[in-house]
Amino acid sequence: MEFDTIEVGIEGRLGTLSLNRPDKLNPLSTRTLREIEAAARWFDAHSDLCVVVVSGRGRSFSAGADISVFAAGGDGDDPRDDADAGWRMARAVEEMRAVTVARIQGWCVGGGLVLAAACDLRVATDTARFSIPEVELGIPLAWGGIPRLVREIGPALTKELVMTCREFSPDEAASAGFLNRVVAEENLDATVEELVATLSRMPKMALLATKAHTNAVSETMVSTGRSWSDADGLIGALHDPECRDAAAAYLERVLARRRS
Ligand code: COA
Repeated sequence: MEFDTIEVGIEGRLGTLSLNRPDKLNPLSTRTLREIEAAARWFDAHSDLCVVVVSGRGRSFSAGADISVFAAGGDGDDPRDDADAGWRMARAVEEMRAVTVARIQGWCVGGGLVLAAACDLRVATDTARFSIPEVELGIPLAWGGIPRLVREIGPALTKELVMTCREFSPDEAASAGFLNRVVAEENLDATVEELVATLSRMPKMALLATKAHTNAVSETMVSTGRSWSDADGLIGALHDPECRDAAAAYLERVLARRRS
């Protein structure tokens, strides 16, 4: 299966999905979101598959939504459909039959963190850096990010991290329940491989039933389905003058940091 911004592969019971724009820290453009959604459906067509590792090439997992597209005011001619692409991507990943393991290094920001949250298990390096800057960028956290975070780390910490936009460490993410393992950079691949090997050895039917059952219970506890309206929050923010000013100031700060 060929894509422009991601790479996918299958070998026996193991699949891989790699975000593949390392020079830009694997931003999630609308095209990338649609490619991930299509890849999730493609993986589902392979009934032998047990585990899919989701990773980002280069020095970071993902720097989140593609801000070059954001700065340009969108990249398609159907704004509602474009704004919905992140929610559909996260749902497609979460609903995959195979167990997904996010392999996280470097930056894991905003929408990148939502992608990781849509995976079943998460392994990160102790040097990974997490942040959710959406509110500073003048948009609400969308793509079903709020219910997924509430589910994993609870409402109070979700509110704090999303409202303050402060960076948080792998250790904090692990103790809050967001990460399954935090390891030294040099041990990341070995740890993911060991986890994948353990999962792949399990009887497939029982393994995948456990994922489906846990997802069904989680969905009853904290539904991500209601986030169908996240796209409307994004579109609303794009029309709010204070949010527009915040976005312009944020983008200027990112550029200024890069220039300095
Ligand atoms: N969308 C598009 N391109 C991005 C990006 C994003 N979200 N994040 C980084 N990039 C690009 C940069 O433009 C730069 O490209 P260039 O070398 O062609 O100029 C490249 O990735 C490296 O980024 P840089 O800022 O130099 O890396 P850094 O290690 O100094 O900083 C971040 C990393 C993540 C702190 C910084 O890139 C950043 O703040 N990015 C924006 C994050 C964001 O707001 N995401 C949206 C969340 S909703």
